[in-house]
Amino acid sequence: MAILKVSRMGHPVLRQPAREIPADRVDHPALQRLIDDMVETMADEQGIGLAAPQVFQSLRLVVLGDPQSDPEDPDAIPLTVLVNPRWLARSDEQAEAWEGCLSIPGLRGMVPRSVSVTLEALDRQGQRVELKAHDLFARVLQHEIDHLDGVLYLDRMTDMRRLAFNEEFERYWRPREDQSPPE
Ligand code: NI
Repeated sequence: MAILKVSRMGHPVLRQPAREIPADRVDHPALQRLIDDMVETMADEQGIGLAAPQVFQSLRLVVLGDPQSDPEDPDAIPLTVLVNPRWLARSDEQAEAWEGCLSIPGLRGMVPRSVSVTLEALDRQGQRVELKAHDLFARVLQHEIDHLDGVLYLDRMTDMRRLAFNEEFERYWRPREDQSPPE
């Protein structure tokens, strides 16, 4: 396995639609190695999602989740590999939350996303899977699958005043539990 270089905003690979992967190529050793390398790169970068264009591969492939997550934790995103994901449904109900992106280092912004989603895809064995997700899991799926269409979270923002450098985010925007009034 190897840690891959991550493409940064401005590189054309992040702005072009990625190619479908033929179902009978999913088990090809080169693709399986790419999946392993993407999982390792995501963990090394402490990300919770990575799309193939972010490692300079214009392919419809995303990995997400936390390989070290506690399987007992209901909020944890399980390690998920999706090939050629396609939306079946996205809720009209949206919620806003802060997002960052390994291809846009140092920044984060407030992004509206559907609260719940359903998709179909191939798994890393090339088998068709259907996946329903809510809240953070749904948000990460929307962020990563946007990458396959050349869309970045900045494009989804509705108020650019809520774009911040990480240091300023920590200082001025992060909810401060320690400052809530004592009960
Ligand atoms: Ni991203």
